[in-house]
Amino acid sequence: MKALILCGGTGTRLRPLTHTVAKQLLPVANKPILFFVIEQICAAGITDIGIIISPETGAKIRGVVGEGRRWGCHITYIWQEKPLGLAHAVKTAQSFLGRDAFLMFLGDNLVQGGIKHLVTGFETSKAEAVVQLKEVHNPQQFGVAVLGAKDRITGLVEKPSKPPSNLALVGIYLFKHGIFEAIDRIEPSWRGEWEITDAIQKLIDLGYAVTAHRLEGWWLDTGKKDDILEANRVILDEYTRRVNRGFIDTDCSVAGRVEIGPDSKVVNSIIRGPVCVGEGVTVRDSFIGPFTAIGDNSVLESVEVEHSVIMENCRLYNVGRIQDSLIGDNTRVQQGDLRRQAICLLVGADSQVMV
Ligand code: TTP
Repeated sequence: MKALILCGGTGTRLRPLTHTVAKQLLPVANKPILFFVIEQICAAGITDIGIIISPETGAKIRGVVGEGRRWGCHITYIWQEKPLGLAHAVKTAQSFLGRDAFLMFLGDNLVQGGIKHLVTGFETSKAEAVVQLKEVHNPQQFGVAVLGAKDRITGLVEKPSKPPSNLALVGIYLFKHGIFEAIDRIEPSWRGEWEITDAIQKLIDLGYAVTAHRLEGWWLDTGKKDDILEANRVILDEYTRRVNRGFIDTDCSVAGRVEIGPDSKVVNSIIRGPVCVGEGVTVRDSFIGPFTAIGDNSVLESVEVEHSVIMENCRLYNVGRIQDSLIGDNTRVQQGDLRRQAICLLVGADSQVMV
């Protein structure tokens, strides 16, 4: 069995961060989202992985992920010239996938508990496709499945105003070769994309068995700023351990599960976990509150930060309280000259500043 991870797309909802970083490489708890995905796929015993990449971010993804040796897998990169939809991405990967059954995983999605139990037995089962579903409170905002007997899916509806169920499609699917027959028979949707929901509906219409698999744990779709913060919160909560590989001076108070990376120093500060501090970080005269991740080589002095992701090589000086914030690599935030009573900005396209 093979796996196909979708890392094309444009990531417009995460601009400006996605002007310079692929959204699948954005960190949660200081680790790229895509690494969690690859780890789960390898843990399910799949080692032949294709990654769909776009011209805009493909080279970056390739550079960071490599050929897969560190996970003991083999990664093939598949170029999708334009983000023409999830079904288009699958079609683009047809020669890589051949006639094998495959797992399709959106590169910006995270699920609790891995996917091993989902994958086991699929190749020998009667199902042509398995779709993972999750109960949600707001099915109007998702692709929703209509279920028949024995977890058989009888239909799919995209963002229904009157949802037939509260079971949304999570970005994880299992397919056999019939999906290509279905994709060849669909047209682009009103938004100009070859939709995977249309392809699955076509599979059902062609008489193939499509079954549902319910996800009991959490599901995180990291497409927007608040989704990344939520993913960071959940992952820090679940995985952070109390580890100090750096230096904490005696004037500090560090409580709860706090990870301090190598060559980092914490001076005269308060940290309340869960918090993850990367490598080569300096925290001085500051308060770092729960659910905060600080990327490698950042410096924080005289700040209060809580429930935020501070990426790599940032400089935060004397800025009072920062919360619910997502701060990209190499960003500098500092208090201006108070006598001028003015905000001084150097802000790129598509940024958001809330004062
Ligand atoms: P989306 O989040 O639906 O699309 P997007 O990445 O273009 O983001 P936005 O809506 O903010 O502009 O994509 C889900 C995943 O699938 C994501 O990891 C990108 C990937 N993808 C492809 O690989 N090819 C595609 O053609 C599309 C549309 C998405």
